[in-house]
Amino acid sequence: MKGVVLAGGKGSRLYPLTRVTNKHLLPVYDRPMIFYPIQTLVDAGIKDIIIVTGGQNAGDFLRLLSNGKDFDLHRIHYTYQEGEGGIAAALRLAEPFVEGEKICVVLGDNIIEKNILEAKDLFEKQTGGAHLILKEVGDPERFGCPELDGGRIVRIEEKPKQPKSRFAVTGIYFYDSTVFEKIGRTKPSWRNELEITDVNNFYLEEKGLTHSVLDGWWTDAGTFESLLRAANLASQTGANKMPGRGSPPRPVLDTE
Ligand code: DAU
Repeated sequence: MKGVVLAGGKGSRLYPLTRVTNKHLLPVYDRPMIFYPIQTLVDAGIKDIIIVTGGQNAGDFLRLLSNGKDFDLHRIHYTYQEGEGGIAAALRLAEPFVEGEKICVVLGDNIIEKNILEAKDLFEKQTGGAHLILKEVGDPERFGCPELDGGRIVRIEEKPKQPKSRFAVTGIYFYDSTVFEKIGRTKPSWRNELEITDVNNFYLEEKGLTHSVLDGWWTDAGTFESLLRAANLASQTGANKMPGRGSPPRPVLDTE
């Protein structure tokens, strides 16, 4: 399975913090935001990773991450998103890298307390389709929100005014390679973006969708409130915990 981290977009909800840098380079407690989604993939044993980024600061990702030494990786792939056409538009750029394999996509501003090993195992046993990770939240109207019937997802709505459940669809998605054909069928939404929720609903229509509920805390970090919450959670309880150990060791600077 290959991994995709999406780190494009304008980050306009964080202006002026993101006026001269990319959101995913901002600090969350003791490391840049992008470290968390990469760690999530690496902890799940996914080491063939591409970063999709864009804007004026794409070169800073290379300077920060180079070949992934902080994560014991030998190389990281990079690709560049022109404009901010949405999550699905960013994911489309990973198609040549994916080469028909299954993928795990993590949004660059999504941070978790624990790991996604269980969900990955479930998806590996699936012949194809997609697997979503849900989390109960206090503000489902901020996210993709599933309508559930007898524990099954029947529809997903993006930022609904009247959410049909208390769950958010987290920004961690498992897909087979038909995801790119599905992205090709999406149309720009009211926010002029290709929505990942439309892609997920296509999987649902094909009866190819499964889901699980994440253990441990989950947060995005794309608003002032959630960025602060992410830093507090990471500092108080640690992020990316693995069974049998606490937080991963802090990255060490060779010059320290
Ligand atoms: O955090 C989970 C939520 O993320 C899901 O519940 C929603 O269904 C999903 O649409 C998304 O919602 P947001 O409105 O919070 O997404 P945002 O525009 O903040 O983008 C999230 C990440 O996706 C961002 O950190 C980088 C990447 N992205 C986004 C856009 C718009 C790109 O790489 N390129 C883009 O053009």
